[in-house]
Amino acid sequence: MSALAAAFEHPLEDGWTLPASWYADRDVLDAERRRILAASWQYAGPAERAGALARRHASVATWGPFAFASGDPDPEPLETWLGDVPALLARSGLRLEALSFHSHYELELAANWKVALENYLECYHCPVAHPGFSRLIDVDPDAYGLVLGPTSASQIGPVRPSALAGGGAAPYDPRGEISQAQYHFLWPSTTINVDPGPQNLSIERWVPLGTARTIETGDYFFGADAADAIAELIAFGSQVAAEDAALVESVQRGLESGAVPQGRILPESEKLLADFQRRVRDALLG
Ligand SMILES: [Fe+2]
Repeated sequence: MSALAAAFEHPLEDGWTLPASWYADRDVLDAERRRILAASWQYAGPAERAGALARRHASVATWGPFAFASGDPDPEPLETWLGDVPALLARSGLRLEALSFHSHYELELAANWKVALENYLECYHCPVAHPGFSRLIDVDPDAYGLVLGPTSASQIGPVRPSALAGGGAAPYDPRGEISQAQYHFLWPSTTINVDPGPQNLSIERWVPLGTARTIETGDYFFGADAADAIAELIAFGSQVAAEDAALVESVQRGLESGAVPQGRILPESEKLLADFQRRVRDALLG
């Protein structure tokens, strides 16, 4: 048995997480870069940069205003990789053709890339970690939808009626063409965020810089109807990102302490996270 496999005291299938050592081990990160990240589709920038990207990547393809790159010279078609995500996004009221590139952002986190994405993939932490967000979006497990696809994991969050009525203390006015929040993860490291309100979308990829250092690098896109709301929407996204940064950095410190070699997974609330961990394990040990 390999050293990586030996870290498993319990199988994922019995409701356990990946071993804590997998979030701090240089050999694990090297294997992830080689077997997962090097030859997969990832968001690479606005579509108008596709020509420049094609000089640096084996494969480049666009979908709407977005360009994606892969190190694989013969990747699966981009359309296959996107799966149901375009159809789900359309159902939110998002109109891809309405979007224009607005601005680039980067956020560096003192956490393993898997910690950052696992946090992205569950909203069990939302009521406590994101009070403003949770006044806007109904994060109750009975209302908050989780959808697993072959290469995607999506979260569909209804807007609270109190936020639409202008009452309560929602962080911004969510009325507009987009009627729900949608957060999509595309294996292995691309995420797409749409918030309720006028036409808005942010898309990012998560890149490991070390076992405990990750950079989230992404772009904001807005429609003309969002002109007066852009500052509020960006402030909202930045607030949630700052709350998540504090959370994932504390999770990373916990994992590195070695106090809990392997944790437990909540079967329903964390089913997207569990799927992500199975993919990582299968890529490294399969
Ligand atoms: Fe979060």
